[in-house]
Amino acid sequence: MELLTTQVAIIGAGPAGLLLGQLLYKAGIEHIIIEQRSAEYVASRIRAGILEQVSVDLLKQAGVDQHLKEKGLPHSGIEILTNGQKHRVDLSALTGGKQVTVYGQTEVTKDLMMAREAAQLKSFYEAQNVQVSDFYQTPKVHFEYQGKSIQIECDFIAGCDGYHGICRASVPQDKIKTYEKVYPFGWLGVLADVPPVADELIYVQSERGFALCSMRSETRSRYYLQVPLNDRVEDWSDERFWEELKSRLDAESQKKLVTGPSIEKSIAPLRSFVTEPMRFGKLFLAGDAAHIVPPTGAKGLNLAASDIAYLSSALIEYYVEGSDQGIQEYSEKCLQRVWKAERFSWWMTHLLHRFEIESEFEHKIKQAELSYILGSTAGKTTLAENYVGLPIHA
Ligand code: APR
Ligand code: PHB
Repeated sequence: MELLTTQVAIIGAGPAGLLLGQLLYKAGIEHIIIEQRSAEYVASRIRAGILEQVSVDLLKQAGVDQHLKEKGLPHSGIEILTNGQKHRVDLSALTGGKQVTVYGQTEVTKDLMMAREAAQLKSFYEAQNVQVSDFYQTPKVHFEYQGKSIQIECDFIAGCDGYHGICRASVPQDKIKTYEKVYPFGWLGVLADVPPVADELIYVQSERGFALCSMRSETRSRYYLQVPLNDRVEDWSDERFWEELKSRLDAESQKKLVTGPSIEKSIAPLRSFVTEPMRFGKLFLAGDAAHIVPPTGAKGLNLAASDIAYLSSALIEYYVEGSDQGIQEYSEKCLQRVWKAERFSWWMTHLLHRFEIESEFEHKIKQAELSYILGSTAGKTTLAENYVGLPIHA
């Protein structure tokens, strides 16, 4: 067995793990990333595409914002379509000038991977049977790599291994509590090289269900439809997809919609999930390993980034200043922000989707709530300040 030592072992090379690696590298803290998939697989996953300013700032701090600056599209508003009418939520005007940036998570991942390669930082891709142990005393990571058995001894383990990872699963049952809500529908997503139907995102509430018109660039669109949970991708030809999307849009957007062959098509279930606490001795959970939000509020990637903001500064404080205060406070600080984003994502999902089980009364109340929110500056401000992202408190 080969024995290695490092300061921080990071499990998982998604956006959370890669961003943490880059921030630790910048601060001169040694680390190793262990990922079970291949680099090609990680770099090709299609995910969400909205960055809060907090996330943009963190990528800048990590020194990986060059492409983001060139290709990211700043958006100062979103549209909400209900009852066949579009209502603009002027994010910037309602939040004292804040905005969001449209930039694919796939691109964020690729930028981070390139920076990592350029700095020749150590990563093990395609690691098998990854195990973490002894994280209340002397943390160890064990895995197989190219037929060899490897053990890493480290000061800390960062569990950035997503919802299905092994870090959360390795915590003793009596030390962890999880909270979960599963929604009775999924999102069918299509990526296509066609110009977006509008300059801004359109969140659609319609009698036929929710839809979202998003984009990746001026020539690439990302669209979503609320679909029943048991639908399969094979049930949805491109033609059927475009027709259904059109039927949920307003007359102007129907005319403007440009259709074309899909480059990617997939169905994702919607889930709200939170783990408490987020630290177990010297094992930290971050990103999807600790929490999941339904995509309606565009918070998944941004929550992963804010966890990493807290975790990187806690580790820097520990190694550079010799203080463990950030480590002690990590879980509580993250969870305060996590629960607020969970609430917002749940609320947006609830408000904009069609639920089979809801009574006519509940449906009417929801319509009234949406109408109130969109007709009131206070209502729109609530939506806008959550959408652009709540502050990260020091
Ligand atoms: N060992 C090593 N790596 C693992 C293991 C394991 N046992 N299990 C999972 N992984 C890897 C996955 O292959 C993946 O590359 O951990 C990584 C986790 O990455 P993500 O799922 O992207 O999670 P995270 O980095 O927290 O990013 C959160 O991704 O899913 C979206 O909506 C989510 O935008 C949010 C963001
Ligand atoms: C996306 O572009 O993929 C996207 C945008 C906004 C969301 C969810 C997904 O709320």
